[in-house]
Order: sequence, then C-alpha cells, then structure tokens
Amino acid sequence: MMSIENLPGQPHVHYQGDRLHLEQVPLATLAEQYGTPLFVYSQASILAALAGYQRGLAGRHALVCYAMKANSSLGILRLLAAAGCGFDIVSGGELERVLAAGGEPARVIFSGVGKTRGEMRQALKAGIACFNVESEAELEVLNEVAIATGTRAPVSIRVNPNVDPMTHPYISTGLKGSKFGIAHERTVHTYRRAASLAGLRVVGIDCHIGSQITQEGPYLDATDRMLDLVESIESAGIPIEHIDFGGGLGINYNGDRPPEADTLWPKLLAKLDARGFGQRRLLIEPGRSLVGNAGVCVTEVLYLKPGDQKNFCVVDAAMNDLPRPAMYQAYHGIVPLRPRSDTASSVWEVVGPVCESGDWIGHERSLSLRSGDLLAVLSAGAYCMSMASNYNSRGRAAEVLVSGTAARLIRRRETIHDQLAAEQGPGFA
Ligand code: LLP
Repeated sequence: MMSIENLPGQPHVHYQGDRLHLEQVPLATLAEQYGTPLFVYSQASILAALAGYQRGLAGRHALVCYAMKANSSLGILRLLAAAGCGFDIVSGGELERVLAAGGEPARVIFSGVGKTRGEMRQALKAGIACFNVESEAELEVLNEVAIATGTRAPVSIRVNPNVDPMTHPYISTGLKGSKFGIAHERTVHTYRRAASLAGLRVVGIDCHIGSQITQEGPYLDATDRMLDLVESIESAGIPIEHIDFGGGLGINYNGDRPPEADTLWPKLLAKLDARGFGQRRLLIEPGRSLVGNAGVCVTEVLYLKPGDQKNFCVVDAAMNDLPRPAMYQAYHGIVPLRPRSDTASSVWEVVGPVCESGDWIGHERSLSLRSGDLLAVLSAGAYCMSMASNYNSRGRAAEVLVSGTAARLIRRRETIHDQLAAEQGPGFA
C-alpha cells in the first residue's frame, strides 16, 4: 500500500493507499457516479490560494477581483463571492454569471478591448465599480453611452507598460505591439481626455502584462512603470484613487516555480510604500493562480494503439475539453487513478477522439496502462472548462466541487439535446 503522497504543485491531490484522491474523495468513485470526462475541483485548494493573496495584502485597502475567464462555473463563482472576492469580467455574459452567483456589482471591474455599447449599458445599469478602458475610441463611446443613460461611468485606463512577462507569446499582453492597453507615451494625454468628458469619472489605472508569469522581475518592473505614470497623471491634476496590477501569476504545471502570492506581494508593497503609494486602494485580477491547481480532469483510456513509431493512448477527453495543449503546446501532468504494477510501463502519446492531429493531451508520457483505466489530467482548474467547446458535437463535461469528504455536482454533463435546443427553436427550419 502506498502512503499518502502529494503530487508536486497539487497540494490537495494525493494517493491514499493506491487510489488518487482530491481532498478526501477517491476520484474513481466520482468517475463511476458522474462518468468521464469529469472535472473535479478542490474547495480547500481554491480558498488556500485566495488566502495567500489575502495574507500578502493584509492591512492594505485591497480587493481581489477574480479574473473569472479562468473558470466561470457558477459553483466556483459562488464560493469566491462568499469568500469576499470581487470579479474581473470581460463580457456581458460574465456579468450575468456574477449576478447569478450572488456577487456584488460594486466589486466588479470590466476589462477587454471590445466592449459593446450594449455591454456598457448593462454594466452601468448594474452599477459596476470600474470600466478598464483599453483604447481612446472606447473612451469616447463609453462617454456617449453613460451620458445617454444619465450616469457617469467610473473608468480606469489600461496602460501597456512595455514589460516582457517572459511567457508564451499568446498570453503576453503588456508589450508594445500587443492589442491591449494604451501605450505608455499616450497615457497622460488619454487621462486628460477622460477627465474632460462629462460622462466619465476617472477612478483608477490598471495594467496586465501577461499570464503564467513565473518570475517576479516583470511584476517589479511593471510596478515601477505604473507608479511613474500615476505621478505624471496626478501632476496633470487628475487624482487616481486605485491602482490595479492585473493578474498573471503562474502556477506549477511542470516543475515551474512561480513566486507565492504571499511573498511576491510584500515585495511589491515595499515599492509602493517607498514611493508613498502604500495607502492607495489596490486591486488585483488573478485568475489561474486561484483555480488552476485546484482542479483535475478525470478521463478513461478508451483504446491502446501501440505502433512502430509511436504508441497512442486514446482517452475520452479531447481538445474540446482540454484546449491548452493544442493551443499553447501546454503541459499538463497525467497520472493514473490507480497505479498498476501488473503491466510494464511504455511511452505513450495521450490523445483524444477529435479528428485532428492537434488533438493531444500529453506527449511521451511513461505510463503503465490498460484500456478502461482512469487517468487524471492535472492542473486543469483554469482555462480548461471555460475554454471548452462543442467541437465534433461533443457535449461539455460535468464538474464536481469537493470539500473534505463531500462532493457536489456543480454542472451536469451537457447532452446533445442541450446542443440541438439552440438550433431547433420555433421558427427555425
Ligand atoms: N486580467 C486581464 C485583463 C486578463 O486579460 C487576464 C487573463 C487576467 C487578468 C487573468 O490572468 P491570470 O491570472 O489568469 O494569468 N487561456 C490562456 C490564458 C489567457 C489569459 C487571458 N487573460 C491559458 O490557458 O494559458
């Protein structure tokens, strides 16, 4: 019998005896009850990640706005809303989810380069805390919409600090040449314009330099650049109430060693203190680091297909459930729910059933397998379910939230009837 053994970076995923558990729940029991592929999340893990930020920001006037694009399932949002989180949204749909989860609009900030007039109206009506504006054109439209609705829109301008976050190019956002934010050199000009518009009320400044950042240097550099800008904007007579540092802190997927939130933040705060900004209202927008390592995706081995050049292990999860490997060549650990000693280990290409060669979950994984075995794809709490699609008319997976020995279904498996319903309403041929 194996003792309790934690997996690296996954404090709540461990073998107890020879069975993989999330907290105190054997994952195989959940797979039997709810089928596969199945996402399972640890409540303790999410709350521990949030507590890391809260410790790092203790004693400050700070709000954690969960970047819900990482995982927007209502059960996760409810948990975080109840724990005092605000939310960073990027669409009207995400706003509706926050409201459905009991989140407070006054703790919602709205990011994104392409907000529509309809979404602006919806967010103004709800009374959100701040629009993180990404272009001069958006500023003009928001002003018009606010005037037409008889309100003033609270705004922050997302600045592009031109700092290299040293991550995958698709998730680098704070470099010159990125579609995000306003160039450093245009910032003061844009703030002057914002302050002159009757429908707007300047409240803050924000930046977000990228995602899966594993070094502290880019954060320290971006902080300096942000504070330089706050000084210039305030010298122009425009007060900045809050400073929003965005999200981006990485997690351990494959031996990555990002700084912990509760060690990174004291360093950033020391910079703020040294420059006299320590008592400002601070906002942050973490996504992945709150939920990424809290979740696994349980999948069944359908077929083993050994070959001359490669051995394929076909599982029932695919790129529509776990899009990160196909999109970013991302690594997710893959471990058996019940390790075998009766079969020799081989090197496998772990792939899904979707009809594309890009549909892979893991390259060259040494595993002892037989068909029918269950595997857990690790670090699957962020940017998996929220990016899942119906490609190949596959229904999206079910999701379960675990706490201690308790497990609760937070999303049932999508059926083909769910998919067909949107195409078969009255009036459709
Ligand atoms: N704030 C803004 C404005 C963002 O655009 C993002 C993420 C975040 C906060 C949260 O960043 P995080 O703390 O999660 O790194 N699908 C990609 C990641 C895309 C990130 C997009 N923006 C992936 O699977 O790696």
